[in-house]
Amino acid sequence: MNTLTFPILKLLSDGKFHSGEAIATQFNVSRTSVWNALQYAEKLGVEVFSVRGRGYKLPQPVTLLDEQLILRTIGEQGNWLSLEIHDHLASTNSHLMQNVSAQRHATCVAANLQTQGRGRRGRSWQAGLGSSLTFSLLWRFQCGAAALSGLSLAIGVALMRALHILGIQQAQLKWPNDILIDREKLAGILIEVQGDMDGPSTAVIGIGINLHLPENIKKQIDQPVTDLNSVSNQSIDPNLLLSILLVQLANVLKEFEQNGLMNLSGEWTKHHAYHLQQVRMLMPDGREVHGIVQGITEDGTLLVETESGLQKFISGEISVRGV
Ligand code: BTN
Repeated sequence: MNTLTFPILKLLSDGKFHSGEAIATQFNVSRTSVWNALQYAEKLGVEVFSVRGRGYKLPQPVTLLDEQLILRTIGEQGNWLSLEIHDHLASTNSHLMQNVSAQRHATCVAANLQTQGRGRRGRSWQAGLGSSLTFSLLWRFQCGAAALSGLSLAIGVALMRALHILGIQQAQLKWPNDILIDREKLAGILIEVQGDMDGPSTAVIGIGINLHLPENIKKQIDQPVTDLNSVSNQSIDPNLLLSILLVQLANVLKEFEQNGLMNLSGEWTKHHAYHLQQVRMLMPDGREVHGIVQGITEDGTLLVETESGLQKFISGEISVRGV
């Protein structure tokens, strides 16, 4: 850990050159300390250009998360929220899951740089500084873990609402909880639940949204991906995105607590990229089942009409591919 690294990265977030000397003077340290701090940034995977005679710069300007700005943007509607913005975390989900019982209800933890992001089915979530909005929200439920099977679909609805508010009308859902644009992945949701099957229970809802993926990160991802920068004609401030999302998440979570998916399933289906489409379901044992998506049930199960009749697929067990 180098305590100078993030203060310097904040200075460099304007995307302009800053000389080693000017940075050293600003932080009252030696130029070697500046160099060491930026070496540590490189170790964390942050690319920093260093040009003799000009100094250091990031490949492009980066908008960092700002706790006060987010709280101001949410305004009074945010009274329920405990917000923590970290410069760097291995994983926002792991951070909350490490000590679930000590956390307050409705704690949101976001990281400007998440280095060991986790995805569903043992995958990783690749992110660099400013390339992805990465955060987790801890929510306590009276009901047990068994009643939360449809939660990830409800969260998908909150994401769709937030993206629509920001003018990203083309976003779609992919069962159980990916967000796609033109069949390329924009965002993912990882929900981890702790508690008894019949209650109470706590969910840590982790969300990653690609903002501006550099080529080196795209290359490490084994599926077609996109980012907001490629699909929106205006640049989207992650502070605004997180503020809007948190309000939409709270709305949807309250609705889900009351009625489960009952009042959300119609909206979910409307945005499902594969509704009434021919799909291939990939089973954990490698088998494939072909059929036409018919919809979802109130516990988030996907209904597919196959050769052998209507089959139900439970979230987390299979993956859907278009044919
Ligand atoms: C997936 O599509 O497989 C789910 C990806 C979830 C990624 C987010 S980023 C913030 C939170 N912290 C993590 O370690 N993972 C989730």
